[in-house]
Amino acid sequence: MKISIFGMGYVGCVSAACLASAQHSVIGVDVSEAKIALLNQGISPVTEEQLPEKMANAVTRGYLQATRDARAAIHTTDLSLITVGTPARDDGSLELAYMIQVIQEIAQALRDKTSPHTIVIRSTVPPGTTERLLIPQLTAQSGRTLNQDLLVCYNPEFLREGSSIKDFYNPPFTILGTEHDDTFQQVAQLYTDVRGAVLPCSIQAAEAMKTLCNVFHALKIAFANEAAAVLHGCGANAMEAIDLFLRDEKLNISRAYLKPGFAFGGSCLPKDVGAMIHLGQSHGVATPLLSGIRVSNDAHLERALAIIQRQNVRKIALIGIAFKPGTDDLRDSPALNLAARLLAEGYELRIFDPIVRIQNLIGANALHMQRHLPDLGDYLDDHLDRVLNHGAVWVIAHAEPGVYQQILAYTPKAPLIDLSGQFARDAGQFSYTGLCWMPTP
Ligand SMILES: NC(=O)c1ccc[n+]([C@@H]2O[C@H](COP(=O)([O-])OP(=O)(O)OC[C@H]3O[C@@H](n4cnc5c(N)ncnc54)[C@H](O)[C@@H]3O)[C@@H](O)[C@H]2O)c1
Repeated sequence: MKISIFGMGYVGCVSAACLASAQHSVIGVDVSEAKIALLNQGISPVTEEQLPEKMANAVTRGYLQATRDARAAIHTTDLSLITVGTPARDDGSLELAYMIQVIQEIAQALRDKTSPHTIVIRSTVPPGTTERLLIPQLTAQSGRTLNQDLLVCYNPEFLREGSSIKDFYNPPFTILGTEHDDTFQQVAQLYTDVRGAVLPCSIQAAEAMKTLCNVFHALKIAFANEAAAVLHGCGANAMEAIDLFLRDEKLNISRAYLKPGFAFGGSCLPKDVGAMIHLGQSHGVATPLLSGIRVSNDAHLERALAIIQRQNVRKIALIGIAFKPGTDDLRDSPALNLAARLLAEGYELRIFDPIVRIQNLIGANALHMQRHLPDLGDYLDDHLDRVLNHGAVWVIAHAEPGVYQQILAYTPKAPLIDLSGQFARDAGQFSYTGLCWMPTP
């Protein structure tokens, strides 16, 4: 392919060298004359393992050259990668000025080019940027039509400085944000010698991916450091404990607990989060991350409440009151807390949970109910039909499989607020609101 790459920093240089090694014809474009001069001598302006040899080889063999001339680069290539910087502003937002400038340069150059052109955006941008900002500018200023003579794909970059050439060939996956099949097929051609799955997705999901991954990596580092500091503070061998922790690939290093749903609760998680924070405090170890867990969990409950309040109805059917399905444990149940808040605000609540029987509650479980919602029995009804019939809105904290089927079959249907994501796949059957997700397509 004939490829132009706009922005010859770390991402641009590594991409250029690797694509040129695969015998694509590559033109690097940058605003820095100094970088252009170095690149045309086969010298990499950035330092990365294996990059000098790859770059020199590509230039010597005629597969890579560099220019300041955006127009010439667009007119002599079929596909452009955009890898300009999107640095952080003081308020944490990303600076998109370089991105907008390069989009304008490309759009201008496309005006008097006749053949189709493909734009692959690799710089990190907030979700929505490509569709709301960049594509409208590209089409308006180039006079082209998306998915006809202009193809656009958002393709996040996962390289890490220090091992970027290895990462280029071994990414966790290749994400191609486009719902246009021809665009997907064409951009996938760039990565025929790259390992891992090539996954199509919406542009917004692809844009979210890099930030999501980096934030999770940062969260993991902060967790490991803060947890180790607490353990070390109380005299435990933190490395030994964390090494053991990492051996659990069933619940710790796994997909478990990483799907969005309702707030957590129960007798273990809140208690042990509190216990670790207390341990930190008693040994003089600050625990801002661990302390934030409760704050985040409470904010999630407030989100649910706000969605219900926005419905402007008084009669609510709440399905699921235990802290999760399959148990009658009410301790620290977010659904119980939500019910108490709704009742305090004067909502007419009916609750169904096939497992919870007031007369069977005992010990700490009964005590918790007494403290937080002593008259729960007045609102619980063991007839699902009656509860659904009562609700002008159905709020589903969780539903056992049988209950799920009954809700699907019940008519007439009320608007459904899904707090756990269970109904996302069947959302089309309801007037559906997910707690913080859209229906599954
Ligand atoms: N560095 C990484 O490890 C890494 C990894 C993944 C993703 N990213 C993302 O990729 C993007 C690029 O990162 P980077 O570290 O390579 O940036 P960088 O700052 O090293 O390089 C950006 C380059 O773009 C050039 N540029 C600016 N305006 C231009 C224009 N109008 N035309 C042509 N060139 C222009 C600059 O001169 C510079 O050489 C960022 O959004 C970054 O967040 C970076």
